[in-house]
Amino acid sequence: MTNIRNFWLGAALAVFAISGAAAQDAPKGDAKAGLANFQKYGCYTCHGILGQGTLRDGPKLNPTALGYPAVLQQLRTPRYEMPAYTAVQISDQQVADIFTYLATLPKGPDPKSLKQLQ
Ligand code: HEC
Repeated sequence: MTNIRNFWLGAALAVFAISGAAAQDAPKGDAKAGLANFQKYGCYTCHGILGQGTLRDGPKLNPTALGYPAVLQQLRTPRYEMPAYTAVQISDQQVADIFTYLATLPKGPDPKSLKQLQ
């Protein structure tokens, strides 16, 4: 009985630890290094140099809306057909730099403000 209780206690603590890690803020990033990484690792070939998306494959990127943990997760375990990047290939710090670079880009206009779309 005690063993079962300890098991559930351990499981609950593990869930807390994981959600705590996911809630962490992005490490401080450097936009200039981020641009260099975005080029070096070929992100721009699919997502465009400004993260605007390309017809080749990659969607437009909006990292501020996604948040750093989601961007990191997409690189480590992509949802669909994007190639995966391990921490050995691109460190968490380098991902934070890429995140910072993309977050500093000017936002596009609100689609509702475009006459052509009304
Ligand atoms: C071969 C093309 C390709 C390359 C190279 C690529 N991506 Fe992607 N990326 C995709 C596709 C396709 C998706 C859509 C989801 C999926 O397929 O997993 C995506 C999704 C994303 C998303 C999530 C977008 C969202 O709104 O959910 C982020 C963030 C992202 N990529 C960042 C990067 C970064 C940073 C790099 C470089 C380290 C990179 N990608 C390299 C094709 C690519």
